[in-house]
Amino acid sequence: MLVTGGAGYIGSHTTVELHNAGHDVVVLDNLTNSTHAAVSAISLLTSTEIPLVECDVRDAGGLDNVFAGNGFDAVFHFAALKAVGESTLEPLRYYDNNVAGTACLLDRMAAHGIKTLVFSSSASVYGDPAVMPIREDCPVAPKSPYARTKVVAENLLHDLHAADPDWRISILRYFNAVGAHPSGQLGEAPTGIPNNLLPFVAQVAVGRLAVLDIFGDNYRTPDGTGVRDYLHVTDLARGHVKAYDYLARNAGIAVHNLGTGQGRSVLEVVRAFERTSGRRIPHRSVDRRPGDVAVSYADPTRARVELGWVAKHGLDRICADLWRWQSTHPHGFSDQTA
Ligand code: NAD
Ligand code: WQD
Repeated sequence: MLVTGGAGYIGSHTTVELHNAGHDVVVLDNLTNSTHAAVSAISLLTSTEIPLVECDVRDAGGLDNVFAGNGFDAVFHFAALKAVGESTLEPLRYYDNNVAGTACLLDRMAAHGIKTLVFSSSASVYGDPAVMPIREDCPVAPKSPYARTKVVAENLLHDLHAADPDWRISILRYFNAVGAHPSGQLGEAPTGIPNNLLPFVAQVAVGRLAVLDIFGDNYRTPDGTGVRDYLHVTDLARGHVKAYDYLARNAGIAVHNLGTGQGRSVLEVVRAFERTSGRRIPHRSVDRRPGDVAVSYADPTRARVELGWVAKHGLDRICADLWRWQSTHPHGFSDQTA
């Protein structure tokens, strides 16, 4: 099978799980937000040379070469730009990469008779729903260009399936992917200052950053800080194996939330990380971050019932695995040989 964006954070962990489930995997990535080192780490972890094709999903000819040379039965499509703030400044780049890129990939898949797809969508498609936990039938109300690219891509997939019911499509709406591989050899390696909470906390703990800014302490939540559904990246990766198995049993197009069903506050995360790392995380409250919602967590019932998937790992395990990765690789994959 082909994994687009397989050198990235979630794609790399999923490649490991797909390999462990007995699948042959080829990674395709343009390395805009990743490096060869991630694929080397996957190869080490799996004791298998995982092929990396350096290609953009908008490059139809490049995709043709990849599809012609391999007998793929499915594609896992992770490749996308994902920084919410950046998407408000560069909407054209986001629509081109995430929407036109998806359209190009689907077009070349169809041309080569490959009609099974697992697609990375996002809980951000729900926006700021009034009712928690969030079920899949909650109306979509995206609040950023990034989230809108996911809604447009989802709509494209529904239209494609309506036009050609041979397609088997799994749309997975992830909540907050966090943590690292338990080996400590694979994890998230953000470039620049991290946008997201857990990578930021980990870099404070390791001494790369001085203090965590907590964005808002007056939300209507138990301790005033924002609440999210933090999902261990290996649980998320296993969800993709389950989604593929589901598509083998079921024709059609399906949408599933992947989340734990548990909301955790920023302060709970900070305390859990301090406990597991033994480091202090200096923090201070600052203004709310524009566009943030107070609370977001999944109802993962549909994934449990239909995919047979549940998240196994809680916050302590997430923090322990992230700390193992961060403390041995303070600068990401460039510390691989350290
Ligand atoms: P990531 O940036 O680590 O991985 C994405 C990978 O795709 C990178 O390696 C990048 O180089 C590659 N890529 C980007 N555009 C490409 C293109 N045009 N052609 C080829 N490769 C390209 O991000 P991630 O956190 O692993 O996210 C993976 C997917 O999951 C994305 O689609 C993202 O929108 C989605 N998602 C992520 C989260 C999260 O919490 N990280 C939550 C919801 C959804
Ligand atoms: C979590 C909580 C912040 C950083 C984003 C995307 C979403 C999805 C996952 C791709 C919030 C608070 C954060 C910091 C803080 N990605 N925070 N200080 O915003 O829930 O989701 O990543 O699809 O689309 O929007 O995740 O980790 O940025 O924030 O206080 O330095 O931590 O306010 O309450 P978010 P996050």
